[in-house]
Amino acid sequence: MNNESIRSIKGTQDILPEESMKWQSLEDQIRKISSYYGYKEIRTPAFENTKLFSRGVGEETDIVSKEMYSWTDQGGENLTLKPELTAPVTRAYIQHNLGRIRPINKLYYIDALFRRERPQKGRYRQFHQFGVEAFGSEHPEIDAEVIALAISVFESLGLEGLKLNLNSIGSGECRENYRTALQDYLKPYFNDLTETSQKRFNDNPLRILDTKAANEIEILEDAPKISNYLTNDDQTHFDEVIEYLDILEIEYELMPKLVRGLDYYSRTTFEITSLDLGAQNAICGGGRYDGLTEILGGKPTPGIGFAAGMERILLAMKDDQFNKDEVKIYIVGLGDNTLKTVIKLAEDLREQNLSTEFDVLRRSLKAQLREANKMNVKYAIIIGDEELESNQLEVKNFSTGNQQKIELSKIVDHMNSLSF
Ligand code: HAM
Repeated sequence: MNNESIRSIKGTQDILPEESMKWQSLEDQIRKISSYYGYKEIRTPAFENTKLFSRGVGEETDIVSKEMYSWTDQGGENLTLKPELTAPVTRAYIQHNLGRIRPINKLYYIDALFRRERPQKGRYRQFHQFGVEAFGSEHPEIDAEVIALAISVFESLGLEGLKLNLNSIGSGECRENYRTALQDYLKPYFNDLTETSQKRFNDNPLRILDTKAANEIEILEDAPKISNYLTNDDQTHFDEVIEYLDILEIEYELMPKLVRGLDYYSRTTFEITSLDLGAQNAICGGGRYDGLTEILGGKPTPGIGFAAGMERILLAMKDDQFNKDEVKIYIVGLGDNTLKTVIKLAEDLREQNLSTEFDVLRRSLKAQLREANKMNVKYAIIIGDEELESNQLEVKNFSTGNQQKIELSKIVDHMNSLSF
């Protein structure tokens, strides 16, 4: 028999108890702030029809062309573990006719996603996003609200050194004209472009603006700017987004090359980066996707949203920003005779919503007190033979060191009256 130990898959992570407490406090904050803005949670399946992503996100994008976990199941269906959530949420919006129920649908999600990227700090193959998608309004108010929500969540988590990069990539008409202008500009440099960019030159030249190659960045310095190709309506929309951000006192930097790596975007695009992260410094990315419902077979419906990488948020958060989920009372039981009283008392205290632990290893007084100390409990209740006989339990306050005798029948009321 082969007994070699089996390890987790590269790029995936176990979230151990110490860490999961941080996740819980992050999730609590996300849910709270999303509800302040009127967003309701949506949950979608872990896998979808592969076509949803090839059509929705775009065949030529990195995600679809190289990063998806896809397979054909026993029934011959082509399936994919979701690599992002805008397409699945849009599918659900169309499938359940949410637009007929209300004209504006504001949704949020917290979910696990899968992309076969090269793992490094802040980049994993299974990772988590918190995101929002708002369907139904083409107006710039919702663009500003979505951006404000993202910033409000990050600020409430104590994140510092954030930067909002903002752009408008215009509507279809604008991008069509810009695409030709960019191709004309890049044509003389074609042989200097990387293989990837040469491929993108015909299919999706705007993506070349995303390049990390130093020589291409230099070539692009004098490239035409998309901001000069916005239609009048696009420009008015973008000006109003900016006006609202000013009213909300949200600082931004205009980034004319911010096109983002997914094909569904139109008009507003944005990213928020953190100075506290290394190479993978994008905490969140988003934008408008006014044509996506139609691409996925629904009625034309404007939409805008963003998604934020939760592992990256946690990397940027300081330790003192997490609520600690502490055990408040430790019952020290001494000797087998006390066990029945101990287990019953623990249950009675828990019924009063007081988190309580007792020793299940039948250890010595010293070992139990050491354990209670490690757990950082507020109080210990000590029960030995003597206490049982006299019906008087010893209550020790760990912060002051004071000890007090309390009658067994009054202990639950007494513990309930204390401040924790
Ligand atoms: P995205 O830029 O691909 O956009 O991902 C959004 C965020 O997810 C990134 O800024 C990053 O924080 C995090 N992220 C992405 N890939 C990884 C990874 N491999 N490991 C860890 N974190 C990662 C989207 O997914 C769009 N659906 C966002 C959107 C929503 N646009 C409109 N609505």
